[in-house]
Amino acid sequence: MTKINISKRLLKIASMVDKKSRIIDVGCDHALLDIYLSLNGLEGKIIASDITIGAVNQAKKNVSLYKTSNVEVRKGDGLSTIKKSDNINTIIMSGLGNQKIISILKENKNILKNVNTIIIQSNTGYNMIRKELNDMGYYVDDECLVKDRGIIYVIIKFKKGKIIHSKKELYFGPVLLKNKNVLFKELIRNEINKNKEIINKLPNKRIIRKLKLTFKNMILKKEIHF
Ligand SMILES: C[S@@+](CC[C@H](N)C(=O)[O-])C[C@H]1O[C@@H](n2cnc3c(N)ncnc32)[C@H](O)[C@@H]1O
Repeated sequence: MTKINISKRLLKIASMVDKKSRIIDVGCDHALLDIYLSLNGLEGKIIASDITIGAVNQAKKNVSLYKTSNVEVRKGDGLSTIKKSDNINTIIMSGLGNQKIISILKENKNILKNVNTIIIQSNTGYNMIRKELNDMGYYVDDECLVKDRGIIYVIIKFKKGKIIHSKKELYFGPVLLKNKNVLFKELIRNEINKNKEIINKLPNKRIIRKLKLTFKNMILKKEIHF
């Protein structure tokens, strides 16, 4: 079997991976992304890693079904499954929450010494991820948006380096800001609408919170000429 169908979201993540990377995919679940990468010309090695035994067993089944030679499945928490000899230079974390992503990275600063690329698709708070990674010595090299089954996902590729992003870049994304494509506008419009809902539900005594959100919406609207 040499072809594998993966979601639009995973395809977009795969498109951001350099062919020669040596990868750990933390929270690989079924390992479909890793199998896809292997079948589509990834030259390096991939460690498909997950904390859950069910996920690990499924990943192992999939890897043997697709007969990929450079995907190895391991069970463990975060980056604990890596050995020095793996020479990992790329971390992928997708479908995890931002707090978990950040704590996994912060708990393993020694591993990050050799990691020059981190690709993240967080389920929550991508602006906070940019700030935390920038503080850890990584900058946004590339980022993109993909709409999959009605949800807009933000995928960010960080590289190691001393580029300091502005507050505005950290919030909106330096690359997304430059492109300001249709999905970017939709993403910001969704945020504005969510804030409006919160403002409407808040009781009048929460006036400061209401004003803060109203002000935030003014800034967001200005960015997309809404
Ligand atoms: C929602 S799935 C995402 C799967 C896949 N990465 C994707 O994007 O489709 C999240 C996976 O992360 C795993 N996970 C959660 N916390 C983890 C941790 N601390 N270390 C490793 N894996 C973890 C879960 O077991 C689950 O399989």
